Amino acid sequence: MADKAKIAILISGRGSNMAAILYASKLPKCPYEIILVASNNPDAQGLKLANAEGIATFAHAHKGMSREDHDVIMHDAIITSGADYIVLAGYMRILSADFVQKWTDKILNIHPSLLPKYKGLNTHQRAIDAGDNYAGCSVHLVTSALDDGTVLGQIKVKILADDDTDSLADRIIFAEHQLYPAAITAYVTREKNPEWILDQVRARALALDETLERPSFGTPAWRVGNEKSGKYFAYFSHRHFGENSISLFVKTSGSDEQEALLDADPMLYFLPKFYGKSGWIAVRLDRGNTDWDHVEAMLSKSWRIVAPKRLTKLIDIAHEF
Ligand code: GRF
Repeated sequence: MADKAKIAILISGRGSNMAAILYASKLPKCPYEIILVASNNPDAQGLKLANAEGIATFAHAHKGMSREDHDVIMHDAIITSGADYIVLAGYMRILSADFVQKWTDKILNIHPSLLPKYKGLNTHQRAIDAGDNYAGCSVHLVTSALDDGTVLGQIKVKILADDDTDSLADRIIFAEHQLYPAAITAYVTREKNPEWILDQVRARALALDETLERPSFGTPAWRVGNEKSGKYFAYFSHRHFGENSISLFVKTSGSDEQEALLDADPMLYFLPKFYGKSGWIAVRLDRGNTDWDHVEAMLSKSWRIVAPKRLTKLIDIAHEF
């Protein structure tokens, strides 16, 4: 498969999650590949395996260095590798705010608890002590707050009556090895996932004034204005309206604008079959490189064309100055 997501994995020790992620990447349809395994611990066991499997490795001990300086060295190695994403798999270092900011929404971590429960260490014992029925693991995005980013996926693991930390950890690690490759796969392909795409459109459409979602011919669509006299300003089309693609229909000012858009980028825009005649244009959303700021601008333009005067009056006045 062409254009696989390139992943750098950071480890500090055993690297069993790294191995699970690596072997899953050998499956024919896996959408990611491992291009680097890096560590703050030159003796990390996982480095040996990565090496033996022909993956590039990098290690630099953090001892005697500031967190920031060490992170710069790791960052440089990752940039040199050409990675698109960083996957933390038992990387026992808190990353500096600077590092995290450089890789916003591109760093994933696995944590052995059902977040938001039990951030930090000793998660298994804390779940047992609390008398929980279930422990588990979570894959989440990394932000500068510890174990706090958006949770991308979880697996629950039953706590048995006679469990101790080790027996529970031994079972949770099985779940980790299933969860991590699946969560990475879903995350790196999210821009082609219809549900994710719909969420992006919905959030932007509903952020505009006086809007509501009302399905039209079985597909999500958004109106502006009150319940009764509101008008549609956007339709989400996932193989609807006789089209094959995932696209957003928005209103233009008329045929001149439609033609200008079709001329400007014929891969991005097309005339929707049933709506083209009345000034709508379709914007493709399934190419994996959607510019969401642009979609936001198209939505807001469409909203302005359709919205009742009382809502657009103030904006029009502002534009005159
Ligand atoms: C795992 O339990 C993971 O949840 C935590 O660190 C451990 C790493 O284990 N973040 P391994 O090195 O992947 O075997």
